[in-house]
Amino acid sequence: MRILFFTGKGGVGKSTIAAAAAWQLARRHRVLIVSLDPAHNLGDIFNVSLKNRRKRFSPNLYLQEVDLRQMARAYLEKETTVLSDTYSYLKALNLDHYFSVLKYSPGIEEYALLTSIEKAIREDTDFDYLLFDTPPTGLTLRFLALPQVTATWIERLTAIRRQILEKRYTIQKIRRPLKVGEVKNEVRLGYDETDDDILNRLLVLKENYGKLTAVLQGETCGIVLVFNPDLLSLRESERLIEGLKDLKLPLRFLVQNKVTEENHAIAHQVAGALQKTSGHKGPVRYVALDRDIALKGADLYNISEDLRSDLEF
Ligand SMILES: Nc1ncnc2c1ncn2[C@@H]1O[C@H](COP(=O)(O)OP(=O)(O)O)[C@@H](O)[C@H]1O
Ligand SMILES: [Mg+2]
Repeated sequence: MRILFFTGKGGVGKSTIAAAAAWQLARRHRVLIVSLDPAHNLGDIFNVSLKNRRKRFSPNLYLQEVDLRQMARAYLEKETTVLSDTYSYLKALNLDHYFSVLKYSPGIEEYALLTSIEKAIREDTDFDYLLFDTPPTGLTLRFLALPQVTATWIERLTAIRRQILEKRYTIQKIRRPLKVGEVKNEVRLGYDETDDDILNRLLVLKENYGKLTAVLQGETCGIVLVFNPDLLSLRESERLIEGLKDLKLPLRFLVQNKVTEENHAIAHQVAGALQKTSGHKGPVRYVALDRDIALKGADLYNISEDLRSDLEF
């Protein structure tokens, strides 16, 4: 399975290009396109109502819009249950209301996003291509960074948990003074790490996030940068490229959308600048601005027929 993320500034045409690419790839491959943008328009583009359910659009093409709010709620409920089960004594201390405040913590949306990506990558393996239409750049970079950020945290938390277990064990070893004639019993078993629920959970999380990072950085995953021939789009694309470099995520394709005869010279400059920033060796695909078409349903046939061969990798 190949995974593609369509990224770029709002309005440059991510959804349009992702939809056209999905449509074209589906002529030869089994394709699932998932919209992660809270402002969905995948259904509009394909002229169908999706309502948070996966829909088969053509024999080889499936469409899905992820309800981020609902994902965030489900994620939080699951984690809250795990927390209150693990720390049941907090209930006795009447501290469990802190959990209900968690839903306002930063990062919940990003985690919900990441969970839906992880789920799709894990479960939808019978597709040849998995395409993600992403939310605006900032949120996209934050959720792409999450597996690595989380791995660092988990490592730190694991070390802290080991220290706690070590201290507990030491405290257990402290004993009352021996009575006269009592024999000192030196034989004590060391604590077994695998008995500790919290450490076990940290290890499972570490493995899951490690796997996800490997998939995102690997050969089967690619990021498509969509941009327009204008300065704002250029600046935001440069920020995105820098972010991707930091995260060691592979930028595979550059698509310049809405190119016209009038802006062709600027387009050339923008493409050159982005090739330089990214070190991207391949060509930049230019997609013309089409003023006449509604870019819905069958109109997608007409938008840059070459996307398919570009994106097959
Ligand atoms: N090549 C194109 N020619 C004409 N209109 C386009 C083209 N690409 C995108 N559009 C239009 O630009 C607007 C923004 O596109 P969209 O795909 O929703 O952007 P994004 O997903 O990046 O926010 C839409 O109205 C879309 O129909
Ligand atoms: Mg969009």
